[in-house]
Amino acid sequence: MKNFVSVHDVTNIDKLVNQALAYKADPFKDKSLGAGKRIGCLFLNPSMRTRLSTQIAAQNLGMEAIVFNVGSEGWQLEFEEEAIMSGSTVEHVKDAAPIFGKYFDILAIRTFPSLKNRDDDYSELYLKQFIKYAGIPVVSLESATLHPLQSLTDIVTITETSRHQINTNNTLPKGNKKPKIVLSWAPHVKPLPQCVANSFSQWINAWGMADFIITHPEDYELSEEFTIGATISHDQDKALEGADFVYVKNWSTFSDYGKIYESDPNWMLTNKKLERTNNAKVMHCLPVRRNVELSDEVLDGKHSIVTLEASNRVWAAQAVIAEILRTNG
Ligand code: CP
Repeated sequence: MKNFVSVHDVTNIDKLVNQALAYKADPFKDKSLGAGKRIGCLFLNPSMRTRLSTQIAAQNLGMEAIVFNVGSEGWQLEFEEEAIMSGSTVEHVKDAAPIFGKYFDILAIRTFPSLKNRDDDYSELYLKQFIKYAGIPVVSLESATLHPLQSLTDIVTITETSRHQINTNNTLPKGNKKPKIVLSWAPHVKPLPQCVANSFSQWINAWGMADFIITHPEDYELSEEFTIGATISHDQDKALEGADFVYVKNWSTFSDYGKIYESDPNWMLTNKKLERTNNAKVMHCLPVRRNVELSDEVLDGKHSIVTLEASNRVWAAQAVIAEILRTNG
């Protein structure tokens, strides 16, 4: 694996999932793999889980992890080629990224979308410029359109908790049904990126081990680039029937980009709605707005596996960093 920015960088999802679970069982089994190596974690936007889990993962492999909050503490970067830098930007990425490439062995970057211009955000210019100019492997810590470390974690968590006994060779034992996974839109007070929902859809579709349904109000369609293969429903109650996992997430509109059309509180998951499911486990990437996106009763109840999910971020990051170290020497 050269870079880790989407599911397309992964040749075998289940191998990576198994590696993550192996690190969970024995965190320090490769404690010398990254000895003498350094990972730079660049944050253009805030983070708690991604920042801490990536640092812990790197340290478990014997690497030094250095965090740089570029967005709040660094020079304002320019990303456009041939820009006349007479405005607010101070340093071009084509000058900064090669320096990161000299300081670090792996560069990990978080860069959110603007939600103002869909073409710009979906071009992933910032991430691509870092890949182009850093000259070292790049890991996405969430980009304008995707959050692959979160999605790998989510599949690790589903595999770990699934009652459907997914075999380690990516097959189901004879007679076993695929788990039913529902990605359910939730209300929010702010327009949020589509990254987590796009990425979850992309990974679950590529994994192929689930009966996958996405439910959202009309006009909240995600890009087909990521959802193709999933069933789309505007009827949340129907979608929830028999679900084994419900992944709750808000996203803003994709077509009329970055808007909130409605924030109908009836879309918030409750224990009453969960009665329709197969005693479903409830997931959310966090942070979550309580009693807006998800009710207290669900988050604090027996269905919620959000803390387990967040704790698994370490093992997913460790599996990815280890794979990059092995591939790139
Ligand atoms: N889920 C997630 O990426 O959390 P943070 O934004 O806190 O890193």
